[in-house]
Amino acid sequence: MKLFSIRKDNVHIVFTVFGIRIKFLNLRRCGNNVVLLHKRDGSVKRNPRIKGLEIKFKGENSTVEIYEPYKFVNCKIKCKDNNYIKFGPTSFPIQNFNITKINHYNKVIIGKNFSVVSGDIILEDETGLNVIIGDDCMFSSGILIRPSDGHTIIDKNSGLPLNAPIIPGGVEIGNRVWLGMEVCVLKNSKVPNDSVVGAKSLVTKRFDESNVVIAGAPAKIVKHNIIWDRRNTETYIKEELS
Ligand SMILES: CC(C)(COP(=O)(O)OP(=O)(O)OC[C@H]1O[C@@H](n2cnc3c(N)ncnc32)[C@H](O)[C@@H]1OP(=O)(O)O)[C@@H](O)C(=O)NCCC(=O)NCCS
Repeated sequence: MKLFSIRKDNVHIVFTVFGIRIKFLNLRRCGNNVVLLHKRDGSVKRNPRIKGLEIKFKGENSTVEIYEPYKFVNCKIKCKDNNYIKFGPTSFPIQNFNITKINHYNKVIIGKNFSVVSGDIILEDETGLNVIIGDDCMFSSGILIRPSDGHTIIDKNSGLPLNAPIIPGGVEIGNRVWLGMEVCVLKNSKVPNDSVVGAKSLVTKRFDESNVVIAGAPAKIVKHNIIWDRRNTETYIKEELS
């Protein structure tokens, strides 16, 4: 047994001395930041430790809302001031998923029944960035969502910025979206409801037609009128068609 240890979580510093735990409020980290855990029974717990999710507040007035059930594995959130992050309830694993460099007044909302193998949402450099992900989405590995450019392209003559401005809706990913391996979604993009994005595709714009497969760099619609299923094709055929 360790004689002495210190652990810091969302809002507490916990000293363990000869197996006795003493918990103090970590005032430096509080700054009106809050983690709200919505329990299955409808109650709300403030600032609990969320297994598998490390939350670091580096500013003030941010809220992280988590709904039960959840299954985080090796996930991180790092945010500065006035951010709002929500994870809806899911029984699927959310693994190796990081929401970081969350500057000021940014919002990430993730609906229910979400799963991911690995990925990053990076909200760097600008304020007021939004990423809205609908219900029943399945993300593969190596996903990157980047709702701002980070640097400026300038017209040589006028000195004016040429990058398309960020729209208030930000990045929108609809309901029932499957993102394949290593998909990258850039600023102002919209992935429609009931769609699949092919492996290694680069989504650069808004797609409004639902039930499509989008693929390529830049991504284009390659199939219309589809739906998809979490089961692999062999199992799907066996269970639904034979
Ligand atoms: C998206 C996907 C499921 C579509 O499969 P499909 O319906 O069998 O697609 P097809 O092979 O019929 O391809 C249709 C067209 O899209 C193109 N295409 C498909 N996937 C593409 C991709 N990732 N990038 C670029 N083009 C792609 C094909 O070349 C084809 O073009 P063509 O009509 O000019 O010949 C599949 O291509 C894919 O990306 N699978 C990997 C999914 C993944 O990452 N799984 C990890 C587990 S979550």
